Amino acid sequence: MPIDPVPGLLSRATELLEKEFVSLPAFEPVIDKEKVAGVLEEVAHRLGDNYPYFHPLYAGQMLKPPHPVARAAYALAMTVNPNNHARDGGRASSEMEIEAVRAIAAMFGWAESGGGFLGHLTSSGTLANLEALWVAGQLAPGKRIVGSEQAHYTHQRISAVLKLDYTGIQADGRGRMSLEDLELELRKGDVGTVVVTLGTTAIGAVDPLDQILALRERYGFRVHVDGAYGGYFRLIPEALDEPARRAYLATVEADSIVIDPHKHGLQPYGCGCVLFRDPSVGRLYKHDSPYTYFTSKQLHLGEISLECSRAGASAVALWATQQLLLLAPGGEFAQGLARGRSAALELDRRLRHQEPPRFQALAAGPPELDIVVWKVAEQTLAHSSHWANEIFVACATQDLHLALVQLPQSWFQPTDCDSHRAESRMVTCLRSVLMKPEHAAWLDSIWERLMASWARVMGE
Ligand SMILES: Cc1ncc(COP(=O)(O)O)c(C=O)c1O
Repeated sequence: MPIDPVPGLLSRATELLEKEFVSLPAFEPVIDKEKVAGVLEEVAHRLGDNYPYFHPLYAGQMLKPPHPVARAAYALAMTVNPNNHARDGGRASSEMEIEAVRAIAAMFGWAESGGGFLGHLTSSGTLANLEALWVAGQLAPGKRIVGSEQAHYTHQRISAVLKLDYTGIQADGRGRMSLEDLELELRKGDVGTVVVTLGTTAIGAVDPLDQILALRERYGFRVHVDGAYGGYFRLIPEALDEPARRAYLATVEADSIVIDPHKHGLQPYGCGCVLFRDPSVGRLYKHDSPYTYFTSKQLHLGEISLECSRAGASAVALWATQQLLLLAPGGEFAQGLARGRSAALELDRRLRHQEPPRFQALAAGPPELDIVVWKVAEQTLAHSSHWANEIFVACATQDLHLALVQLPQSWFQPTDCDSHRAESRMVTCLRSVLMKPEHAAWLDSIWERLMASWARVMGE
């Protein structure tokens, strides 16, 4: 493991925080330090039973280590343990949440002046999407929610929870929502909201937001952008291909947006975010609370959020990270994203240019963001899936951690002898989310291990 800078960073900051409360009479919390240390030894041992998510050779699922400043700020906030439900529970951290969310909204081109917006943090992307669809359902009662069949499964589940009808729209060979199929649904006249995913979970596909907004002109519906995974790519449109660039530049026109700072935003888990373009949707949250909201006339975040208690520490960590790494094009944060993306393009390039071809990349072209998927070049779909599983296991024995994903066989060049039946069939593929800036520098090591694993499994 790398040397952890967080304990060192924390000691000075903890001293300063203690000074803030120095006027209070001193007291010692009662803990048996020896016993605590013993339990922590056990915890350290138990935590060893994990994939090494922090390491660049972990290149599997969407797991990005929080920035040291986020971890330190979160731990520092734990001394106070604020609750951002109400200012009574988290005065400073509520202010920090408002400032941090304002910076995220500004990244999408939304500012408080010029119409305003409403937004807050949530404990996850799921909860953030739930709030967005809950608002959507209230604004268009009885109307359907539609989203690409590649949209996160949470949308269908949330719609069921909210008792809203949900329809999945076919995705094309690039994993993007098919506009033709969307329009077929729109013509039926009962679509209230279209969920547009900027960065699908499986392959990082970017739905054509700009073109869907053009359809909104004609058919009239709400546009909810799920950027839980891909939202931060709004910072680097110049590094994206034209269709994705156009989609990201259109976020300013969306009705609601979800983004997960706990994915690409370098935050510990427990940090999602939902934004609404029209601040008047705040009225839908209106409720009375006999318990809270007494100490301040200012807005309490619990008044515009479905969750009650929420970790104020999440807001503190996010605020601190955004102080250090501004959410600005060309800044350090944007450069980190761009490095992950170039690692993904390089891995995809190598997959396409091996001789002889051992793997097959997506037929439609290179990744849209920083997720790469590929299948094993084999005669049959069953063999291809089988060897993907074997290579996945072999890579792990070499400390390279990838992921597996089921994708339509038709997304790859049809070389199978059973390709005439392949259209709707799924093949198990290898998948790598190259979301750490360090992945670019580690690509040679990743490639070597992948090739060695292929050779070992195939006996070559
Ligand atoms: C596009 C998308 N939406 C929503 C979610 C759900 O977010 P969370 O896991 O934070 O609840 C995910 C998770 O991977 C996602 O990729």
